[in-house]
Amino acid sequence: MIKWNPELYGRSLLCLEDLADSEMLELVDLAIELKARRRAGVRGDLLQRRHIALIFEKSSTRTRTSASIAVRDEGGTADYLSQNDIHLGAKESVKDTARVLGRTFDGILFRGFSQERVATLAQYAGVPVWNGLTDTFHPTQILADLMTIKESFGRLRGLRVAYVGDGRNNVANSLMIGCAKAGVNFVNCTPAQLTPESALVRQAEEIAQRNDAQVQVCSDPFEGVRGANIIYTDVWVSMGEESEKEKRLELLRPFQVNEALVRATGVDQDQFIFLHCLPAFHDHETAMTRQSGALEVTDDVFEAPFSRVFDEAENRMHTIKALYVSALVDGAVL
Ligand code: CP
Ligand code: NVA
Repeated sequence: MIKWNPELYGRSLLCLEDLADSEMLELVDLAIELKARRRAGVRGDLLQRRHIALIFEKSSTRTRTSASIAVRDEGGTADYLSQNDIHLGAKESVKDTARVLGRTFDGILFRGFSQERVATLAQYAGVPVWNGLTDTFHPTQILADLMTIKESFGRLRGLRVAYVGDGRNNVANSLMIGCAKAGVNFVNCTPAQLTPESALVRQAEEIAQRNDAQVQVCSDPFEGVRGANIIYTDVWVSMGEESEKEKRLELLRPFQVNEALVRATGVDQDQFIFLHCLPAFHDHETAMTRQSGALEVTDDVFEAPFSRVFDEAENRMHTIKALYVSALVDGAVL
């Protein structure tokens, strides 16, 4: 029997602070149960006649497909609406589009640039809105990351995550908050120019404190990763920041995740995993790396037995499904 917290019914997720610590952890556990249900071959009807609008201003492989399959898997439908397909913000205000889509759909997942835009959608749609990435936050990603960590170690509290790279991007911001809420120690290894906003760090520190965990920012990656059970990295140039590319590559080269950095954790391999939200520049196969080779992570780390990046990618689907089920199905018990 699968149960979920009825308090989550009708709720949006714009950033992880929207969830109580316990609610976030319950979503991770629900996703683990939904994964087992799918593995057992169940394609149910939990989301029958639920219709989700997927608004994407930026490209996506994982979020788009996960958000689409998560609802179809349980009997619902999804409509992909790129910014070229709809009038959002061009011929129609975000507020009006929100009110129109809210009359037709049961929920909206949005990926785009501004956090303000996803907040406006949530304010006016009258249905749950989920943030599938903005410039500031990527909360649905972090639910999948925490799920992958829990699957790997059987627990979250007391573990240590070292994030290495662009320390103030959407993933780093949300990961810092997510770890703090889960009682996971978090160190952000990043150059001084890319440290996260101090107000957000302070907020994460306060959350961590109530969960007996620590939040640190450190400019020396070899020092920062010491004792880490998880090294996590992300691209050095996020979507929308392409003009920063040359500067960023120069700044972040010393922050590449390679074998030497993994060794610097000093942690046994059976107590260590590597995570990356993906897509990753780890080989010569992309337009970006054909000349330069690997960027944020080397191939030997990416392909190592301790790399859990594809479990993490799969878990996007199960965690988004957990969000849909808990927000769209009222107090149900399966
Ligand atoms: N991790 C992630 O959000 O991937 P996509 O950009 O492919 O959705
Ligand atoms: N920080 C990256 C995450 C991609 C999933 C970006 O915004 O491009």
